Amino acid sequence: MADNALSESLEIVVERVGNPAPQIYERMFKLSPELESMFVLDRDGSVRAEMIRLSFDALLDLEQDGQYARGLIATELTTHGNNGITADQFVSLFDTIRDVVREIVAGQWQPRHEQAWNQVLSRVGDLVARG
Ligand code: HEM
Repeated sequence: MADNALSESLEIVVERVGNPAPQIYERMFKLSPELESMFVLDRDGSVRAEMIRLSFDALLDLEQDGQYARGLIATELTTHGNNGITADQFVSLFDTIRDVVREIVAGQWQPRHEQAWNQVLSRVGDLVARG
């Protein structure tokens, strides 16, 4: 798919800030404060770190053939559903990641980055809608 503009944007993020997980959770909890209490047992932050790591894996895979992401998203959607997390909340993490990446990439953000993220996020939406 396209020219790997999504992975390029993630590389810029890593160069600039290293791991963007703190910014992602900060934005997530600002937008949806009710989600913060779900992580009270995650004292060392390892669950949150793993979630972002796997979300990145899914995004990068969806920019390619998406084989791995299909299974991952289906599995995580089910386990998160069992924990009371709605499909909309689940998808919102990917939107939040895109918004944080766009903010960090800032002046280097180009229309092809926007387009690559739109394509991948719409694939996430399709996979989640299929359940
Ligand atoms: C707003 C959306 C999301 C919320 C509120 C959320 C919340 C949570 C919570 C509360 C846990 C801990 C569950 C437990 O330990 O019993 C968890 C674990 C996990 N989540 Fe999410 N999640 C979201 C989206 C995602 C997405 C999009 C992915 C990846 C595709 C993901 C991947 C994971 C993984 C892999 C774990 C297990 C991590 C571990 O135990 O090491 N989550 N999530």
